Amino acid sequence: MTITDQGPHSAPAGTQEKRGMNLTLRVWRQKGPQVKGKMVTYKVTDISPDMSFLEMLDVLNEQLIEQGDDPVAFDHDCREGICGMCGLMINGQAHGPQQTTTCQLHMRSFKDGDSIDIEPWRASAFPVIKDLAVDRRAFDRIIQAGGYISVPTGTAPEAHSVPVPKKDADNAFDAATCIGCGACVAACPNASSMLFTAAKVTHLGLLPQGQPERNDRVVNMVAQQDREGFGGCTNIGECSAACPKGISMETISRLNHDLLGALRAGARPKS
Ligand code: SF4
Ligand code: FES
Repeated sequence: MTITDQGPHSAPAGTQEKRGMNLTLRVWRQKGPQVKGKMVTYKVTDISPDMSFLEMLDVLNEQLIEQGDDPVAFDHDCREGICGMCGLMINGQAHGPQQTTTCQLHMRSFKDGDSIDIEPWRASAFPVIKDLAVDRRAFDRIIQAGGYISVPTGTAPEAHSVPVPKKDADNAFDAATCIGCGACVAACPNASSMLFTAAKVTHLGLLPQGQPERNDRVVNMVAQQDREGFGGCTNIGECSAACPKGISMETISRLNHDLLGALRAGARPKS
C-alpha cells in the first residue's frame, strides 16, 4: 500500500483549494467632520472565518494602501474586548450580529458572498471625525462631571474593614464592567446614553465608598449627559440588547431611583 497525503478532501494536484470568503463591503467614507460622507463599495477576497472583523478591515486597508488609496479610519486599541475603543454599525446593528465588541466579532458570523454595510456610530453627540471614527469625548465629560470619591489615601485598608453585602458587590461589579464603547447610544433610537451613565453612577452608588458624593454625582452626571445632546430614555431596551457587557435595564432603574432620591434631598447640578 502506498502512503499518500492526498485524502478525500485534498484538492487535486495543480489546483488551489479555496478556503476564504469573498465579501462585498459597503463602507461609510467621510474625509472629515464637516464633509459630506457616502457609502463606498469594496470587494475583499479569501477572508478567513477565524479573522476578527477588525482584521478583515486590516485586509481591506492593506489593499487600499497598495492601490494608493486612503485607508479606512476606524478606532481600536486592545482588540480584546476590554478598552471600548472599537465600535461599528454592522448591517445596522451596533457591533454586528453578536452581542460582543467589534474586535471580538469573528468573520465566521458571515458567509461567503455576503454584503456587509459598515457605518460609524450614528448620534449627534458622537460626531464623525473621519470615516468610521467618531468623537466619544462626551462620555469622558459625563464621567468627569461625576467628580471624585472621598477616600483616604495611603495604604490599602484591610479588606474586611468595610463590609459590602454580596449582592451589592456583584451588582456594583456588573455595572463596573461597562467599557464605554457607546453601542448603547448607537443602538438606541433616541441616541440616549442612559445605560452608560447608569452603569457609571450605580457602580459607585452601590458601594460604601461611593456614598459621600452619591447625590451630587448622579445629578451632575445626568445634567452633563443632557448638555451633551444625548436623547432621553423611553425604556426601549435596545441599549442593553446591544451592550457587549450585558449591562441590564435594571441599572437604569437604579439610576432613576438615585436621581429622584438626590433631587428630593435637595441636590442640584452645578451650572
Ligand atoms: S453600557 Fe454597554 S454598550 Fe453602553 S458604553 Fe457601557 S459597555 Fe458599551
Ligand atoms: S479594541 Fe478594545 S474593546 Fe475592541
